[in-house]
Amino acid sequence: MLRVFLQNQTENTMDENLKRYIELIPKAELHVHVEGTFEPERIFEIAQRNNVPLKYNSVEDLRKAYKFNNLQDFLDIYYGAAKVLLHEQDFYDLTMDYLRKAHANNVVHTEVFFDPQTHTTRGVSFVTVINGITRAMDDAKTEVGVSSKLIMCFLRHLSEKSAMETLESALLHKDKIIAIGLDSSENGHPPSKFFNVFNRVREEGFFVVAHAGEEGPAEYIWEAIDLLEAVRIDHGVSSVDDPGLIEELRDREIPLTVCPLSNLKLKVVENLENIPVKMFLEKGIRVTLNSDDPSYFGGYVNNNYLQTAEALNLSRNDIYTLAKNSFLASFITEKERDVFLEKLLDFENSFI
Ligand code: HPA
Ligand code: ZN
Repeated sequence: MLRVFLQNQTENTMDENLKRYIELIPKAELHVHVEGTFEPERIFEIAQRNNVPLKYNSVEDLRKAYKFNNLQDFLDIYYGAAKVLLHEQDFYDLTMDYLRKAHANNVVHTEVFFDPQTHTTRGVSFVTVINGITRAMDDAKTEVGVSSKLIMCFLRHLSEKSAMETLESALLHKDKIIAIGLDSSENGHPPSKFFNVFNRVREEGFFVVAHAGEEGPAEYIWEAIDLLEAVRIDHGVSSVDDPGLIEELRDREIPLTVCPLSNLKLKVVENLENIPVKMFLEKGIRVTLNSDDPSYFGGYVNNNYLQTAEALNLSRNDIYTLAKNSFLASFITEKERDVFLEKLLDFENSFI
């Protein structure tokens, strides 16, 4: 009896320690959509100040609608909420809310997606969107010390022509954008649909990323890395179906930005035990953990780490590798990377 009691005590202490370790470890977030960090309270506040009607009567009503059977169910609600964003200050508030949350999660560097077409197709100018977001990024750097970079995504359910026009707008703000990616409804919109525009993206010197292998097949990941020359894949979980692809991702050191709670909420996996993070780690894939659309999927980045660690029985060493991978996979300079890696090592050596 006493032994069982002692054993449980030790287990609990270990769990608490790992929990603290996860919460405190410095990390980078590499897959988060700024529009997906829009909290219901803020949606209502901005809707009211802009006089935009919402389909829902209250914050609670809206939250109740967050039950998704697939990616499209979610996107319909996500694009609906984004309609209240009209002015530069709205984009500023949205971004600042996220960066403060990131800081609270000990995210020291974040690479944030934005979807300009979600706004320009409603008549909001590209400049309004990008100025609001980047002003918040600058302020957050001084206020809370979070470093950040911006990634523009093309909506893949729209045409390549529309993506090309969006790229033209972005070229006037080249210094504010580090990489260009592809998001929205995956099935039926393979990376190859955007072959020409991504040739141009690379010529202009942007890094290429792409959502691939979330709901779509492993073939879409091949297209993203071979046709678009993506250097980082967002989600990429369907690579589990193709051992040759896993080898390729490892050999070419192409990171995967996995989002466990997103995959769970959009029914990409039945339960968190089926997220292939442990397998990716064992195969030497540069896998990272991220929140995707945290206000919709039940948790910011620490929650993704905590719930995945619990489901997959991840060790402290696994968590360290995931955090280290987040810096190795990020689009920062070697000098910046060295600073973050040293911070990580200091944390590891001083954590009790
Ligand atoms: N997948 C594709 N597009 C998206 C997502 C996602 O998880 N979140 C926001 N846009
Ligand atoms: Zn995403």
